[in-house]
Amino acid sequence: MKLKILGSAAGGGVPQWNCNHIYSRLARQAGGRVVARTQSSLAASADGRRWALFNASPDIRQQIAATPELWPAPGEPPRSTPIGAVVLTNADVDHIAGLLSLREREPFHLYALKPVLDVLQANSVFGVLDPALVRRIELPVGRAVAIEAPTGPLGLEIEAYPVPGKIALFLEKGDAADFASDTGDTAGVCIRDGSVSVHYVPGCARVDDGLKRRLAGADCLFFDGTLYTDNEMAEAGVGAKTGRRMGHMAMSGPDGSVAALADVPLKRRIFVHINNTNPVLDPASAARRQVTAAGWEIGEDGMEIVP
Ligand code: MLT
Ligand code: MN
Repeated sequence: MKLKILGSAAGGGVPQWNCNHIYSRLARQAGGRVVARTQSSLAASADGRRWALFNASPDIRQQIAATPELWPAPGEPPRSTPIGAVVLTNADVDHIAGLLSLREREPFHLYALKPVLDVLQANSVFGVLDPALVRRIELPVGRAVAIEAPTGPLGLEIEAYPVPGKIALFLEKGDAADFASDTGDTAGVCIRDGSVSVHYVPGCARVDDGLKRRLAGADCLFFDGTLYTDNEMAEAGVGAKTGRRMGHMAMSGPDGSVAALADVPLKRRIFVHINNTNPVLDPASAARRQVTAAGWEIGEDGMEIVP
């Protein structure tokens, strides 16, 4: 299996258009020590030719342009794509808005758990993806299925499972929302090709024993790296929300992801969906030293992983 991180940042990207905080400022400097990152997406392929995308970020056009593997191949028809399927892990804007950029009458299959398909159904703008060309396929909870493209199976199996999280921000009504529910609004996905297994969990509010058992032994984990500390957005002066309020667990602290996953055997562990306030963006930071010393890698756009 071959994987490519298309976008390693959380919603907003790095730099974020209206962000004047240190990491966005550093990311605007060419050759500076903070690398720019686009919004959250991963690509996977069993044969290196046909690909499944995991999430469709608002930056998808730029991501495809930066990834030759995702270009129409020489000799293919005048309109074609190696992208056979798109799998959604939740209905957040940073994971679905890119669907609107895939509207040029190209067949592919679209997979998600039911709550996410319901959001697409309720928002008529997604009708730009003609259902005659883009089949929406409901993923069963906790059962592996072969990913099909319109041209046939991609040689990848996916198993989606609910993780603690919340409904998309734009669906929240008042303060009553549960910010760590496992109703299927937020999913993790296990991707297998018959020889390796990889988990992609770009949003997660809490690691429980069930999730630890599920992840144990994986060849690679891509995990929610939104924040380093729960209240870092307030400390940076960019907003009042905590990670908990956004359905994201922080990396650090006794309840953080680094500690929670420390005893889970994994060949590789890589943070993705990194927010523009997270100090791990800065290779010179103590936070970066702490998480890398704990065995974590910090995802970057274009990173290729052959697990
Ligand atoms: C999140 O990951 O919490 C969301 O992407 C936030 C958003 O929709 O802006
Ligand atoms: Mn997000």
